[in-house]
Amino acid sequence: MNYRSLCIALVFAGFAVPAAADCDMTQTGKALAEKNHCAICHKDGGMAQPLAGIAEGKTDEFLKQSILNPKQTLGAGTRMPAYKFSDEEMKAMLHYLRSASRP
Ligand code: HEC
Repeated sequence: MNYRSLCIALVFAGFAVPAAADCDMTQTGKALAEKNHCAICHKDGGMAQPLAGIAEGKTDEFLKQSILNPKQTLGAGTRMPAYKFSDEEMKAMLHYLRSASRP
């Protein structure tokens, strides 16, 4: 197991990964998005816009709250499910959303 997959495995297991700077956060976030099937809804022709581009012009706090507390952030009628990500997982997810949003 190389360091990157170890890092991803630790994040999946719910550990706060120390020395997160050594992890490839973008890959970890991507793996998290795949594990949680975000793309079932977030895709071309889906009910929500693709994750690539979703972070554009939005603050980290907005993105984070949209994922953790969608009803409070996007509206009571939102179909975006609430996720319980740890701080470490959210950090990785934001890295991924930002990198996927770069042209
Ligand atoms: C069941 C479908 C569904 C799944 C699964 C889902 N989303 Fe969403 N998401 C939505 C919808 C629909 C919206 C748009 C708000 C609305 O119309 O309710 C949204 C909105 C968002 C937003 C806010 C975008 C904005 O600017 O309004 C973010 C960020 C987001 N989703 C990230 C994610 C991530 C990350 C995952 C996976 C961990 C995920 N979503 C999984 C349906 C989904």
